Amino acid sequence: MEIAVSFLSIKSAKERMEVIKKLNNSSADYIHFDVADGKFVKEKYLCIPELVKLLKLSTKKNDVHLMVEDPIKYIEQIKNLNVDRITIHVEINKALKGILKYIKDSDIEAGIAVDLNTSIDFIKPYLKLVDSILIMSVKAGNGGQEFVPAVLEKIKKVPNNIKLEVDGGINNETIKWVKDADIIVSGSYILKDIDNNIEKLKNKE
Ligand code: DX5
Ligand code: ZN
Repeated sequence: MEIAVSFLSIKSAKERMEVIKKLNNSSADYIHFDVADGKFVKEKYLCIPELVKLLKLSTKKNDVHLMVEDPIKYIEQIKNLNVDRITIHVEINKALKGILKYIKDSDIEAGIAVDLNTSIDFIKPYLKLVDSILIMSVKAGNGGQEFVPAVLEKIKKVPNNIKLEVDGGINNETIKWVKDADIIVSGSYILKDIDNNIEKLKNKE
């Protein structure tokens, strides 16, 4: 199991740079870049220039989670940077197959995300086009929410030949419920005490 650290709960650009530097020196496997456009979710987070700046600062593997209606304009700006995975949401009203192909053709792992209240059935047409499935265990848009246990039923339906990433409300207690995940995303729990809490999650897996 790999640990991806989200910093969505950090609201100041200066602090975001500081936390990337701290994560560079931590045992995190990935830095998880939550991007929100204020349309797919009401929050806005990481405009393209800041996303580019922070990706260039990161020395870890980078996992970009696009909570945006128009992923193409983000992908074209970051596809030649040190990005390991780009995940788009199944709920957006776009031709997903072409976007997923664009990510793959850029030699980047393609992920598809399912928000909290979306049926897992919606990703069936895309299973052959993605490297990973991101299951939201909170409602997309904010850090610091509680893990929603109902999502465990959804997780059981994820085919086991595709990487499973679980995102939201993961701490040293709830991680026990998602042992099958290949990657877990944790933000507010880890940011409380980066080095100790990453180790606690790694020891619980
Ligand atoms: C929510 C984001 C998650 C969230 C995780 O929209 O996609 O990555 O920031 O943070 P915690 O661990 O605080 O739920
Ligand atoms: Zn996320």
